[in-house]
Amino acid sequence: MTGQARPICVRGGEVVTAEARTHADVYCEDGVIKAVGPELDCPADTEEIDASGAYVLPGAVDAHVHMELAFMGTVSSDDFETGTAAGVAGGTTTIIDFVIPPHGQPLLDGLAEWHAKAEKAVADYAFHMAVTWWGDETSAEMASCVNEHGIPSFKTFMAYKGAIGIEDNELLRVMETAQGLGAMVTAHCEDGDAVVAMQEKLLAEGKTAPRYHALSRPAPVEGRATERAAQLARQAGCPLYIVHMTCKESIEAVRAAQGRGQPVLGETCVQYLLLDDSVYESDDFEGAAYVMSPPIRPLGNQEALWDALSAGVVHTVATDHCPFNLDGQKDMGSGDFTKIPNGAAGIEHRLSLMHTHGVLGGRLSLEQWVDACCTQPARLFGLAPRKGTIAPGADADIAIFDPTATATISAATHHHHVDRSIYEGFPLTGTVRQTLVAGRLQWNDGDLRVERGAGRYLPRTLS
Ligand code: URP
Ligand code: ZN
Ligand code: ZN
Repeated sequence: MTGQARPICVRGGEVVTAEARTHADVYCEDGVIKAVGPELDCPADTEEIDASGAYVLPGAVDAHVHMELAFMGTVSSDDFETGTAAGVAGGTTTIIDFVIPPHGQPLLDGLAEWHAKAEKAVADYAFHMAVTWWGDETSAEMASCVNEHGIPSFKTFMAYKGAIGIEDNELLRVMETAQGLGAMVTAHCEDGDAVVAMQEKLLAEGKTAPRYHALSRPAPVEGRATERAAQLARQAGCPLYIVHMTCKESIEAVRAAQGRGQPVLGETCVQYLLLDDSVYESDDFEGAAYVMSPPIRPLGNQEALWDALSAGVVHTVATDHCPFNLDGQKDMGSGDFTKIPNGAAGIEHRLSLMHTHGVLGGRLSLEQWVDACCTQPARLFGLAPRKGTIAPGADADIAIFDPTATATISAATHHHHVDRSIYEGFPLTGTVRQTLVAGRLQWNDGDLRVERGAGRYLPRTLS
């Protein structure tokens, strides 16, 4: 990291938090917000940033990303440096990635690998820990994650059978252990057995194209697994966070759990709000760019997700950023959709897309937009009040957002290291003009000046 930056004052913007909107200046020194108020007096050496006409937002927090993930025979194409840099270009200043030890690897060995990979991050990062198998040492290692390594959230996969997926008996043990540790369990909810059965049937019928990925894992497969996870969490008495919810069936399962008083929280991702399953229609291989799990859903589910988000049934909007190039990675599955690496990029455009379609689309207030993209992910995962808000004492991670600026998304211009964008040609209204990372100006009117290795690991505790 380079030496201390000059103090910065962000002047004349509208500060938007999850609670309120106020016209105020924001004074930052030593990487921290020191004062928020009208017409602040600042030291003579302060660098002034004119934010008039702009929203001054907390740096966004993406609680679901996979940088440099070894998965399905390849590695996701953004590493911690390029992926966090793309985030900074879009106002995201904190990520939570997932340590995913392969079957048989101790959790803490996986953690050491993730720390080594993440050293080059340009923005701050934390980890969830995935439990992909159960062994004699797993509960002690989970305790060590919580008590010694600042990782109080565990990831479980009900899909990906034979790889990183676990059985229900293992899931229950994870939940019981997490309950004893005061930790949270997060779950990828798809019924792994049903997926395998459908994949085998489709392949036997000679149905190998990308479109069959979606048909092999329809919404009831997700809904049923979400119900199962919620009931297991109920049995264990453990808080549960459902990642990347896509459909009405899953919303109903979460709503039912919340209705009986369970601490079940929901996340969706931008792609499930904005895209529908027509993306799989093309006869060429381009549909592979949209191969992710769960898949993009038929029309009707998107509005249900928007409603659930605005009603507070779903709490956060993440990206599940996990890019793979079409040429050289996705094409490993050109003759068999089950071999297409699952995942797509999104970290750079979450704030702008959610503004364009959520706020300007009349589905979310400005405060709800900030809540879903910045504040809730920080609060739920123990990063608040340091992250997710604009207030004295918080880190000086700030996105200065021009709500009237326009742009068009393209793989030709994005900062993601991937050859396709699932939002190619999408118009944006509202873009990030400047991003401050720990009080340093790292994105300024299209100029990205990030510092390799400047990101810090964020140990967490849940309140
Ligand atoms: O397709 C996806 N979502 N890839 C990343 C891994 C996961 O399931 O989150
Ligand atoms: Zn997943
Ligand atoms: Zn994921």
